[in-house]
Amino acid sequence: MTENRRQFRAIKGTRDILPPESALWNWFEQTARNTFESYNFREIRLPIFEETELFARSIGADTDVVNKEMYTFSTGPDADTKEEGASAQTYSLRPEATASVVRAYIENGMQTLPGNAKLYYVGPMFRRERPQKGRYRQFYQIGAEVLGQSDAPAIDAEVIEMLMTFFKRASLTRTTLYINSIGDKNCRPQYVELLREELRKVAEQPPAGSKLGPDSLRRIDTNPLRVLDSKLPEEQAIIAKLPRISDHLCDACREHFAKLKEELSLRGIAYEENWRLVRGLDYYTRTTFEVIAEGLGSQNAVCGGGRYDGLVELLGGPPTKGIGFAIGTDRAILSIQESGKLPQLPALAVFVAWMGQAAYPTAVNITRKLRGVGLAVELPAEEMKFKKSLGLADKLGARYALIIGEDEVNSGTFTLKHLADSDQKKLSEFDLLEYLESERRDTRA
Ligand code: HAM
Repeated sequence: MTENRRQFRAIKGTRDILPPESALWNWFEQTARNTFESYNFREIRLPIFEETELFARSIGADTDVVNKEMYTFSTGPDADTKEEGASAQTYSLRPEATASVVRAYIENGMQTLPGNAKLYYVGPMFRRERPQKGRYRQFYQIGAEVLGQSDAPAIDAEVIEMLMTFFKRASLTRTTLYINSIGDKNCRPQYVELLREELRKVAEQPPAGSKLGPDSLRRIDTNPLRVLDSKLPEEQAIIAKLPRISDHLCDACREHFAKLKEELSLRGIAYEENWRLVRGLDYYTRTTFEVIAEGLGSQNAVCGGGRYDGLVELLGGPPTKGIGFAIGTDRAILSIQESGKLPQLPALAVFVAWMGQAAYPTAVNITRKLRGVGLAVELPAEEMKFKKSLGLADKLGARYALIIGEDEVNSGTFTLKHLADSDQKKLSEFDLLEYLESERRDTRA
């Protein structure tokens, strides 16, 4: 029998985030946590899979995400519960997390907590899309949601301010914020009907040089708003002439949108209005927004969000308002990398170049102490020749080599070599610790 030695590869659309890039991811996520917590948001950790029906009902059964992109699996009744009459369940890997946040809000009775629920989450999402630059089947989001009784435009503005503050801190600055209002249940149905009528007309009699593609033709019946999202060149002239929702908002929605713009200006946030910004998920009402970033090609949306008043009720909870966003971490990181504005990330501080068995106990001891003051230290497990040792220190990107040989053991000192310029000094243990610790403090400041 031949042994099967096939090598495994990551599944199409998934990937490994390796060091040193993983440090950039950690820094990015930590910057988000710090920023969001300064706005009094707290983390919620959610399951990676939920009942398929939760996503179908919230995101919408006619959306691409639910229709084509979910990873869905069925299991029989739980063997260990052996419930009478328990039937097979259908679960899906989460394609997004807003539905889960709302499910958790209702399930945990969070409406009884004081103030608004201000929650953020960080983690992987799964969509079976065609992989390309900036588009993966397992991708990562950092999201935030506010749920509560009020739909004050100041909440929308604060959420957007938090997002843009975070992007600035994460040096993601070549961005554009687009905003729109897509109305609510009072005014949107009439607008959608109007849009449908107009689209039917152009479908029957397309203007010269333009025509609707098969997706848009289908959406006339299923979801005409989504036609506005189309990027097909032959549809652009048609879309430009369609009625705009801003001309069809009810008074309450128009006022809400006007107030949001005032609030954004008050906070000094630059934005552009984009009447075609309808988003691909069905739960939105009123405010929608998106941020695009440079250096990403066609997949340039680094964040999408909006208001979803009514979603809590749709999932069986009490009347509640909601707004939030999710940042695509993969794309945000790509954009930061392309801009070249990378932060200073933790690197190897000290490589302990010990020589001779007599030096080994000293090396182990000083390594423990240096690590104890927060320095990253590499201690070779086996003795190495001096030249080889310094060569490896260099290749690992160490800032210093700490040389411990016979001389050092005999004199009770350490030789600290700064690898960039080969500057070398002999120090006592006390001075060594003090020197490296104060330097670490300075470079962090
Ligand atoms: P979304 O627009 O579907 O919204 O996704 C948000 C962001 O996730 C996108 O702007 C993009 O950066 C990233 N993203 C989406 N799909 C992929 C993919 N296949 N590969 C890489 N990145 C991707 C939502 O998910 C909503 N839950 C946002 C929200 C929260 N609305 C209200 N609260």
